[in-house]
Amino acid sequence: MVLQPRDVRFDWSRLPMHWIPGEPTATHTINVLHLLLPAGERWFVRVFKQALPLITDDRLREDVLGFIGQEAIHAQAHQGVLDHLLAKGLDPGPYVRQVEWLFHRVLGERPGLTPERAREHVVERVAIIAAVEHFTAFLGNWVLNADALDLAGADPVMLDLLRWHGAEEVEHRSVAYDLLRHLDPGYARRIRTMAITGPALYWLWIRGARFLVAADPQPAGPRQKASWRGFLAASRRGLLPSPGAAVCSGARYVRRGYHPTQEGSTRQAVAYLATSPAARAAAH
Ligand SMILES: [Fe+2]
Ligand SMILES: [Fe+2]
Repeated sequence: MVLQPRDVRFDWSRLPMHWIPGEPTATHTINVLHLLLPAGERWFVRVFKQALPLITDDRLREDVLGFIGQEAIHAQAHQGVLDHLLAKGLDPGPYVRQVEWLFHRVLGERPGLTPERAREHVVERVAIIAAVEHFTAFLGNWVLNADALDLAGADPVMLDLLRWHGAEEVEHRSVAYDLLRHLDPGYARRIRTMAITGPALYWLWIRGARFLVAADPQPAGPRQKASWRGFLAASRRGLLPSPGAAVCSGARYVRRGYHPTQEGSTRQAVAYLATSPAARAAAH
């Protein structure tokens, strides 16, 4: 299977602030994706372009090029939602600037390294991306099966964005891991980077959800705050993934015999992409 980027477009003009009606906590917890992904996925693209000259397998190089094409469009699509939030009076800037700092300053390029150190810096960041991609595939698989979002009346355009993206994450879930194994087949780096990436993502997510709920210009109550009780209640109703399932999924990544193909279903992902309104419009 060849990974192809789909040049999707979404119209946000009718998107309500609480696109899961009456569920500000669940809406904003999912909205954290729009805060993290534009900067994060552009960073994936930069790192993978730096990894290209290190690849000695033609098939893997083709997959990495397909991955780069898909992630570049994902970043653009989520950027569109951020622009919409700003226009509706929710300024994501303060949080997004911190995320940009993380991806440019902490995890960015380091000019002047020796060739060996430059290679090491690329491989370490590929390993971090492989760990993140384990969770993007987990989330993609979750949203493809999250019938509770349909039952709750979630906005169909947002659902299509999440499921188109989720399906492509399931579709390309092996690429970062296969690239990591190609550049460093060892076990230690995989464990070390997951031990950092899992908790860091969790922390970024909680902070992001709290930020969005506090910055919401249409609060549901006079002192609206994101709370654990709210997260857990939404997850019990199937509107958010369960934190326990996310932790178990992270633990599966550190098993010796792990491979991303063991998680999620390519058949289901491809079937969704064949019916996704945005992906179908892009194909014409
Ligand atoms: Fe993506
Ligand atoms: Fe991805």
